[in-house]
Amino acid sequence: MRRILWTVVILPLLLQLSASASHTSSMYKVRLITGKVDTVKAASSDQSSKSAAVPRRKRYRRSSVRHVPWSVLQRRYPGSFVTRGNGGRKLVALTFDDVPDPRYTPKVLDILAKHHTRATFFVLGSRAAKYPELVKRMVREGHLVGNHSYSHALFAKSSLASYRKQIERTDQLLARLTGYRPRFIRPPYGEILPRQVEWSREHGYIVVNWDVDSVDWTSIGSDKIMANIRKTLQPGSIILQHAGGGDSQDLSGTVNAVPKLIRYLKAKGYQAVTVDELLGQRGLRG
Ligand code: NI
Repeated sequence: MRRILWTVVILPLLLQLSASASHTSSMYKVRLITGKVDTVKAASSDQSSKSAAVPRRKRYRRSSVRHVPWSVLQRRYPGSFVTRGNGGRKLVALTFDDVPDPRYTPKVLDILAKHHTRATFFVLGSRAAKYPELVKRMVREGHLVGNHSYSHALFAKSSLASYRKQIERTDQLLARLTGYRPRFIRPPYGEILPRQVEWSREHGYIVVNWDVDSVDWTSIGSDKIMANIRKTLQPGSIILQHAGGGDSQDLSGTVNAVPKLIRYLKAKGYQAVTVDELLGQRGLRG
């Protein structure tokens, strides 16, 4: 009886709690409970056979959230749902999510400036409203800004109307701050539904996920981050990192990894570019 109690009640409860604790912010913790997010890597069947393995950092229980494999979206919406460039040249794109954050974003911007390297920042509207100067700084220093929703919404659980609201509200704010509306959307958790990609395509957006996951959101050190990046890096890669996070999240590993990454890319003959250059697509919608 005790064993049954352990396996049926206590163990799942502990797993749930540890999943919550290992996640990043109170904002996300709510999602973990309501959205039943877990941190298991996606099965290999979710990954495109054509491109290199696409590491997935979070996944949702299919019973509660409709998960559409990226390979399906890539096939159905070529050019409008992307995880990497074509790889014809040795170009890669550094991308930083969940910005702006006054603890980490200025440090990452300082390092990029020092190394004359440009990146793409996927901005949360709610944080841009709080720290507008940091968004202006990104653009002033030559970086590209993309849309990461307003409140880090899990689009796989959002209606089309609330998806549009998340995108448009962030767009309007970014247009006021930067003078342009971004063309690239990075869905929180990488999760998005076909009808949302379709609406995005019809309205001139491109949904941009990644093929290289640094897994830096788990507060790991820079050596581990570099090892994660090297695993799937190839010409055309889009690298996922974070320059913002929740209160309990320590991104000093990312801050330490960025100069290492820039030096590594140079040594291997890669050029770091913004996502628009990588894809050969406009990054602005006017
Ligand atoms: Ni995010």
